[in-house]
Amino acid sequence: MRGMFTAIAARYDLLNTVASLGEDRRWRRRAAQLTRARPGETALDVCAGTGRVAQLLAARVGPTGRVYGVDFTEAMLERARIRVPTARWLSADARRLPLPAGSVDAATMAFGLRNIDDPVAALRELHRVVRPGGRVVVLEFSRPGRAWLRRASARYNRTVLAVLARRLAPDPAAYAYLADSIAAFPPPPAVSGWFHQAGFRRVRVVPMTGGIVAIHVARRPPGAPGASGPVGAVGTAGAVGAG
Ligand SMILES: C[S@@+](CC[C@H](N)C(=O)[O-])C[C@H]1O[C@@H](n2cnc3c(N)ncnc32)[C@H](O)[C@@H]1O
Repeated sequence: MRGMFTAIAARYDLLNTVASLGEDRRWRRRAAQLTRARPGETALDVCAGTGRVAQLLAARVGPTGRVYGVDFTEAMLERARIRVPTARWLSADARRLPLPAGSVDAATMAFGLRNIDDPVAALRELHRVVRPGGRVVVLEFSRPGRAWLRRASARYNRTVLAVLARRLAPDPAAYAYLADSIAAFPPPPAVSGWFHQAGFRRVRVVPMTGGIVAIHVARRPPGAPGASGPVGAVGTAGAVGAG
């Protein structure tokens, strides 16, 4: 997985924009908005890639706030550091975040969950690091509700994406993986079930572009006990090493 993301890092942003016909900006903007992160707060973006969501979070929390970005692919982090130099960039696995329990006000994950072996473990980690009452927003590909759009989008993923990959990507296999992983990803009710297993309540689904993507918004219940102690924490949020 890491090797594949290393191979596509240089072209990742371009491919995203071309493949989504420019819709990806709107999807990420809406996800950042749904965190309701405010100036002065601490926000976290996991599976941050080249830092596009972290950049939106940084604009929301402002100079008095703080943004952490986590990814396990160094080639992605290199780009993210340039895009958002004010964020603290951490090289880590989403299933083992190097942050203390309850240390962030809001967390996001965009197009990451589908790539993680154990999605419930990753959601549990988000539940652990978000403070009680804090929000978690997950943007991911989904299954359009209308049958014709579902068929068209599956065909698009198999054909247009493959052509784009051959033209633009150094690793076309990565885009075969993309089509397969989108097809295999479960619909919103199952994903909401994962959130509940991870300890979240009141999970809301916001479909976009006819359901081609869906944003899950969940809150860690106020006063909910943490899942466990900090995993690999290295001090308070303010003391975590910036990359
Ligand atoms: C499809 S990209 C999404 C990047 C970004 N969030 C965006 O919206 O463009 C997925 C990212 O998740 C990272 N990733 C995948 N599995 C991960 C894991 N288990 N832990 C940390 N990062 C992971 C990859 O390195 C890659 O940068």
